[in-house]
Amino acid sequence: MTLTLNSPLDMHLHVRDNDMLKTVAPLSSNSFASAIIMPNLVPPVTTIKALQEYKQRIIRSTCRDNFTPLMTLFFKSDYSYEFLKEAKKYIAALKLYPSGITTNSEGGVSSMDIDGLKDTFEAMSELEIPLLVHGETNGFVMDREKEFSSVYEQFAKNFPKLKIVMEHITTKHSASLLDKYENLYATITLHHLYITLDDVAGGMLSPHLFCKPIAKRPEDREALLKLALSANPKVMFGSDSAPHPQDKKECCGCAAGVFTAPIALQALAQLFERHGKLKNLQAFVSDNAQKIYNFKPIDKKVTLEKKEFIVPNSYGSVVPMFAGEKLLWSIKNAL
Ligand code: NCD
Ligand code: ZN
Repeated sequence: MTLTLNSPLDMHLHVRDNDMLKTVAPLSSNSFASAIIMPNLVPPVTTIKALQEYKQRIIRSTCRDNFTPLMTLFFKSDYSYEFLKEAKKYIAALKLYPSGITTNSEGGVSSMDIDGLKDTFEAMSELEIPLLVHGETNGFVMDREKEFSSVYEQFAKNFPKLKIVMEHITTKHSASLLDKYENLYATITLHHLYITLDDVAGGMLSPHLFCKPIAKRPEDREALLKLALSANPKVMFGSDSAPHPQDKKECCGCAAGVFTAPIALQALAQLFERHGKLKNLQAFVSDNAQKIYNFKPIDKKVTLEKKEFIVPNSYGSVVPMFAGEKLLWSIKNAL
């Protein structure tokens, strides 16, 4: 049995820089036609020059020429209208991080108070630049995303023309917001469709499954599965594949992030097949995102086949999700 996906897209991806970029970028370009590239480098990507140079480094690191990096700038509330107008030519979105909430987000926004963000949001609405948000407070770890929902609601209500993407949602409550506001969308990762907090810390600690936001309860995973498997038009696949070297994961002070880029499509096919929903995978991994972002990706056909794939123990210095385990689908070719 085979399944051909047209231009699969990863709408939330970390490819890092330097040696790590060279290890991971080709793996994304093997599976995907395009990806939204996160700007949380050190220092974060905040200028057009840095963005263009980073884009060139990504292009040089991908082994195929049929992969388009869709660039984002790290949100700052002091970007002027003129700057954003110029930036619009080079970016797909701005990514807002609450300050210090996750890896390399120290330069993020320290107050979600609308008064301080209004000018930028108005400019983005007018220029039709989507706002991508890491939606967590610094409260109790299991409640952070839910606590942030009032911020999402405020943003959505006050800026109805602003397209807002709730990145990597992990809760039933976030899922429920999609029906409430026309301008709210969401990405869902592979790992949050597979795991709950039990897989991270219920038995022996699994550092390679530790990420922000942390995986939640079974009922939360069920709500995400329902959205993804039905390919709800307001959700898109965004892996949040976030590589860290093995020694930064298997240590005290484990870095947050799950590395899934090279196994994502295979594991998604397995999941969608298990639930009898393979026909909806195309919409979840591509069509929905094309409509939401209003763009046409390059034509790339990725064929998966129902053939065992033993996930490598590592890719360079990075350990992937399902390392050493067997997946039921593999990638046959990408043309
Ligand atoms: C991401 C990273 O490592 O850059 N980590 C993660 O746990 N998801 C940042 C992020 O998206 O939060
Ligand atoms: Zn991320």
